[in-house]
Amino acid sequence: MEKVKVALLGLGTVGSGVWKMISENRDVIARKTGKWYQISSVLVKNPEKKRNLDGVEEVLTTDFSQVLARDPDVLIEVIGGVEPAFSYIKKAMAKGCHIVTANKELMAKRGQELEELSGQYGVQLRYEASVGGGIPVISTIRHFLKANRIYRFYGILNGTTNYILTRMSEEACSFADVLKDAQEKGYAEADPSSDVEGLDAVYKLSILMRLAFQVHVPVSQIPCQGITDLSPQELQLAEMLGYSVKLLARAEQFGENGPVSCSVLPTLVPLHYSLASVRDVYNAVTIEGDYVQDLTFVGQGAGQKPTASAVVEDLLNTGISFEEETGCQTNPWVLAGEDVFLTRF
Ligand code: HSE
Repeated sequence: MEKVKVALLGLGTVGSGVWKMISENRDVIARKTGKWYQISSVLVKNPEKKRNLDGVEEVLTTDFSQVLARDPDVLIEVIGGVEPAFSYIKKAMAKGCHIVTANKELMAKRGQELEELSGQYGVQLRYEASVGGGIPVISTIRHFLKANRIYRFYGILNGTTNYILTRMSEEACSFADVLKDAQEKGYAEADPSSDVEGLDAVYKLSILMRLAFQVHVPVSQIPCQGITDLSPQELQLAEMLGYSVKLLARAEQFGENGPVSCSVLPTLVPLHYSLASVRDVYNAVTIEGDYVQDLTFVGQGAGQKPTASAVVEDLLNTGISFEEETGCQTNPWVLAGEDVFLTRF
């Protein structure tokens, strides 16, 4: 079986999720891809920290040059922030590594540069996990909407704030209590001000605009307001008046190569709109194109498992062109019982 050597930069919430998913789903991954994915090094700041991940101690390092010395085929970057992530990725690309990253700040600020570098070095750059957690929104725009003129997209792009707004309005919890809870659940960023002040959604909006409209709108130019000023009472009043408050990210382009309007703002969404019923850590994105009309995706937008899922799916697609069939081994199937018929028909 072909072996794929993987380097992992970062072992926080997402990095640990990646480690677990590759270990726990190794059999299904091998069956579906015919490949054996092996994490050969993990870059961490503190190797002494207690971690509950089988076998990880043997591959920990604090030295990036050690990571490259093991000649990985693919490098996964989940440390976040622009530096040193950008420099690490650039060095890895120069050595011929494909890159998978979940880093929205990096992709929003230096994504174009990294795309160019990946072309220059002949390696792939994948970043599905940077937007929408487990929702395959980036792949959809890149691979399924190439012939469409996308003129608008909008939705909820931050799981932490949607979780906070849901609990504040439904249970009248205080902002501070729910934020703490969101941090404990692994939804919020290391610095949660990026979530609650709207910047995290701005990064994601900027990434999607580059893909959908082929424009680079600097994050500093995107009008943004977070949810820190909202109280449970205001959210409940909105509900009584027939609205749900959502942190809405939206972008629209007026004509081919035309001006772009975009923002991240708390918005009153009428309760009968489907967006109003997107609760908790869920994200939703609606994309409108001239032929496809509109597509809506809903899924968990933050948290260890959905984000790790997006990273590992990117890993499995790395090194093959999208059109290439990976083949799929089929197994004899066994009927589980009569209930299968009942649920199917
Ligand atoms: N902090 C982010 C969120 C994580 O809450 O949406 C996923 O990007």
